[in-house]
Amino acid sequence: MRAVLCKEFGPPESLVLEEVDDPTPSAGQVVLDIEACAVNFPDVLIIQDQYQFKPPLPFSPGAEVAGVVSAVGEGVDSLAVGDRVFASTGWGGLAEKIAVGASGCLPIPDGMDAVHASAFLYAYGTSHYALKDRGHLQPGEVLLVLGAAGGVGLAAVELGALMGATVIAAASTKEKLELCREHGAAMTINYEEEDLKTRIRELTGGRGADVVYDAVGGRFSEPALRSTAWDGRFLVIGFAAGDIPKIPLNLALLKSCSIVGVFWGAFVGREPERNKANIDELMAMWTEGKLRPHVSETFPLERGGEAIRALADRKALGKVVVTIPA
Ligand SMILES: NC(=O)c1ccc[n+]([C@@H]2O[C@H](COP(=O)([O-])OP(=O)(O)OC[C@H]3O[C@@H](n4cnc5c(N)ncnc54)[C@H](OP(=O)(O)O)[C@@H]3O)[C@@H](O)[C@H]2O)c1
Repeated sequence: MRAVLCKEFGPPESLVLEEVDDPTPSAGQVVLDIEACAVNFPDVLIIQDQYQFKPPLPFSPGAEVAGVVSAVGEGVDSLAVGDRVFASTGWGGLAEKIAVGASGCLPIPDGMDAVHASAFLYAYGTSHYALKDRGHLQPGEVLLVLGAAGGVGLAAVELGALMGATVIAAASTKEKLELCREHGAAMTINYEEEDLKTRIRELTGGRGADVVYDAVGGRFSEPALRSTAWDGRFLVIGFAAGDIPKIPLNLALLKSCSIVGVFWGAFVGREPERNKANIDELMAMWTEGKLRPHVSETFPLERGGEAIRALADRKALGKVVVTIPA
């Protein structure tokens, strides 16, 4: 099969497309013929050895796939050859085939194409867990989303609005903010042009945001924490800006607010039943037409590095997907 390989750590341009042996399923696994693989910001980090998961070289980046079961390992009776499924895999997705645990595969619902199936789990899984289980977002509260037009950010905007919150989307361009409004944001802030803290104060009548969803880090985290409401929850999602901010803890004391860590990948492993219930809820919302995953661009496998480059350069809106025709 063909696979995009990280053979030495470096930027997306250092990835190479090569022929490698087809995978075979171990006990409990299936092999998928991959049709689509969404890329995520962790792919930018994992190929540079800057991510918390460190697969041995060489490996393919790409953490969420959709495809068709083409081989079934010993002991698997939940899936059969020909089943259409999607799965989050950590890495290995920018390839024509992958061997994955059968228990982690979910059936693709009727009416969902492979591109959108591949783009579903990370974004909605993370943001649903963050807002519901970690942030306890309530109807009528104000939710501020930083990096709101990115993969997890746009899902947070949609889910926050569906949960009855007033969503303030913060992002870097007019086009990104327009997309956020289309997905449920009531108010927007261009944090490259406007002072974040001043605008949050203006938009909330001085109260601040009840829940802050911070997928960006860097220089935006502290002004956002300073703009958190009394008894608010500041959700630590990620550091796409690169810098992990160092926060004066007196800010949490003064607001009587909580700084809450969110690690969806670990939640999936540690609390599979709760995660399954969350995914079931999300699939029901999708079936009811309430969720609208936004895929702004697709790339063929041989240009997989360019898909990751789009994320590294802040060019992506919503999700970017690599497609692998049969
Ligand atoms: N905690 C968890 O469980 C979990 C799960 C999934 C992802 N994450 C993390 O969440 C963050 C977002 O992931 P994603 O896949 O949604 O990424 P993404 O689609 O690339 O979105 C990231 C957003 O961050 C903003 N950004 C600001 N400075 C940036 C920079 N220097 N480089 C790139 N983007 C920058 C961009 O928006 P603007 O241009 O509008 O600023 C961009 O839309 C990552 O840090 C990722 O590791 C965490």
